[in-house]
Amino acid sequence: MASTPKPPPEDFAGAANDWDLERLYQKLAAAKKEWAPHKKSGLTPIEKLHLRGLLCGYSPAVIAKKLSIIPRGLEADLCKGLYRYVEILTGRPANTLSNWRDIIDWLDEAGYKIGPARRCQDWDGAPDASVFYGRTGELETLEQWIVRDRCRLVAIWGMGGIGKTALAARMAQQTKDKFEYIVWRSLRHAPPLNELLANLIQFLTNRQETDWPATVLGRVSRLMEYLRTHRCLVVLDDWQSVLRPGQPAGHYLDGYEEYGELLTQVGESSHQSCLLLASWEKPKEIAVLESPTLSVRSFQLEGLGEAAKEILREKGLSEQERWEELIRAYRGNPLALKIVAATIQDVFAGSVSEFLMKSLYLGDFEYLLYQHFKRLSELEKEIVGLIASRQPLSICQLREEMQLEGSAELLKALESLVRRSLIEKVKESSGTLYTVQPVVVKYVSNQSPRR
Ligand SMILES: Nc1ncnc2c1ncn2[C@@H]1O[C@H](COP(=O)(O)OP(=O)(O)OP(=O)(O)O)[C@@H](O)[C@H]1O
Ligand SMILES: [Mg+2]
Repeated sequence: MASTPKPPPEDFAGAANDWDLERLYQKLAAAKKEWAPHKKSGLTPIEKLHLRGLLCGYSPAVIAKKLSIIPRGLEADLCKGLYRYVEILTGRPANTLSNWRDIIDWLDEAGYKIGPARRCQDWDGAPDASVFYGRTGELETLEQWIVRDRCRLVAIWGMGGIGKTALAARMAQQTKDKFEYIVWRSLRHAPPLNELLANLIQFLTNRQETDWPATVLGRVSRLMEYLRTHRCLVVLDDWQSVLRPGQPAGHYLDGYEEYGELLTQVGESSHQSCLLLASWEKPKEIAVLESPTLSVRSFQLEGLGEAAKEILREKGLSEQERWEELIRAYRGNPLALKIVAATIQDVFAGSVSEFLMKSLYLGDFEYLLYQHFKRLSELEKEIVGLIASRQPLSICQLREEMQLEGSAELLKALESLVRRSLIEKVKESSGTLYTVQPVVVKYVSNQSPRR
């Protein structure tokens, strides 16, 4: 019986679009001679094939799958061969190549990449990050995750005004030379995913793409193709705008669920790019996929701390000895501090102590808190109200106060409130206690008479 013809093997020819392959084959052949003088000179066709696969942005596991070979065997061949040649070619000590993606970075740095538009940037709506205080630790962490660890999906989440957008913009500015493409988009007006994808693909193809898929799924896989073949940084700000109010944190608006699938794809598939998102709430996909050792990570952004003094200095406030108190009261939230600093300047001629004699003042920050509260379920509002009036409270105390039978609903609501940055946890020897920050206490008490 005639056997079915085998499909043509994958040859990763696309690598030639972006890489000077002939020069690389030659230089790597010379490195091979240095590494293993006894071996046949020149790269073998199999070595060239594996190199092209890696340069297309495929991991060894994906290459093995595409070539129907055993992954462990391929890894062993790479470790004995190509990885060592690349180290020699790029002047690195032997055995320092720890991640297959280093191949792309190192060869790019060494100038083997070709193509007309090596660096394209679109900062639509990104703030100017030139005036930026503190956050050294956060910037280091982000750089470690995005540049050194090659994380594919990173989220910064935290309360409004805490500085997520400013930090993301600073980070993107600081690392822009490490990426071929940088694109910044805000989701503030909740664009349907199909539109956002069309927009991103347009940018990544330098507006040359005319024949793109009509379906969201097709567009996601087209985007993934670019994320795999190019090193891109895609920043999506205001992610909470596609999340649904009134539901536990991290769920999507009706018709926007595919945003969650985009996150899963970006977090789970192999590619060489990074999606950095900023949100009031931690998306549920991030909570599921993240791990300190994997390619999906996130952190909750907290107040500015000591560096917030620069904001007060900029505003010309006096009585520096009271600044720390002021910063603590607003938990170092830069937006809140900017708002109250303007009030202190206008109403108290810059005197912080006169201002601190009054009860906590929210000013325009109250509207931001109103927007946060609007997103809560009735149960979440009740919990925040209780904690605000009797804090700190444990789960047992909350259950008693609310006269709830079981803990399941309460746990779900507490998890949601933590993911919305609206409650804080304090570890005590007796267990975890929950508190809310002073601005939230003030907001709740401002609302009470009207209820
Ligand atoms: N590190 C910083 N140094 C100086 N100014 C800062 C810093 N971080 C934030 N700011 C300023 O504080 C204000 C609020 O910051 P930002 O817009 O980044 O907050 P956000 O967390 O993105 O808020 P939202 O969630 O409402 O979008 C802005 O005016 C910003 O310029
Ligand atoms: Mg923002």
